[in-house]
Amino acid sequence: MNVFDTHAHLNDKAYDQDRDEMIQRARQAGVNLIVNIGFDLTSSRESIDLAEKYDFIYATVGIHPHDAAGAEPGYLEELAEMAQHPKVVAIGEIGLDYYRDLSPRPVQRQVFLDQMALAKKLGKPIVIHDRDAHGEMMEILRKEKLGPVGGVMHCYSGSWEMAKELLVMDFYLSIAGPVTFPNARILKEVAAKTPADRLLIETDSPYLTPIPYRGKRNEPAHILHTAAEIAKVRGMKKEALTQMCAENGRRLFQIP
Ligand code: NI
Repeated sequence: MNVFDTHAHLNDKAYDQDRDEMIQRARQAGVNLIVNIGFDLTSSRESIDLAEKYDFIYATVGIHPHDAAGAEPGYLEELAEMAQHPKVVAIGEIGLDYYRDLSPRPVQRQVFLDQMALAKKLGKPIVIHDRDAHGEMMEILRKEKLGPVGGVMHCYSGSWEMAKELLVMDFYLSIAGPVTFPNARILKEVAAKTPADRLLIETDSPYLTPIPYRGKRNEPAHILHTAAEIAKVRGMKKEALTQMCAENGRRLFQIP
């Protein structure tokens, strides 16, 4: 098995009691690559620390829209410096969250735009978080354009129409646990129709737990349930699906 969980938050306090065991369970389940996602300066640093401890874990650095209002002056310089670390593969997660609105929207927009510009300057792909902000997100992406190194729409939650436009812009689409929910009609459609070379899978651990563990803490080992559902809707074997998505993830994040 070749399985790449392209989005997890392994430094979350949900794992403080059993982090190493949880990571071992991932390995035993066949997960042989994980991108561990930063969401502010502290978690970005912690993400690098974990990536230094485990050879199969890589890191991203970035300021999540929830934390945009708390971004200290000089944060861009700090991110740029952290991004020089050989295991930092992207700037993220960055974007807009108009569902929880934990930072004022104009601040979310500015911090997102500044980090997109930084990613282009550094030649790193971006990991985008977009929750209930599809209209404005697409407006920004049409105007700003993705850098040549690309990016991924993490935990994709939009329509197939929006997906098509993102694919034209050269985005990857990453699908998480909610695709296993019986009422996830649109997400299953996107999972079925996304071109083979643009699809990624992720857990967003400890969130977005797939069936049959829905309601419990998520962890990377559970990604096989998400993979099984996507393989089913695409009419392919689970092993072939995880292999295909792992190759896509390595290409995007430039992991040899
Ligand atoms: Ni996340």
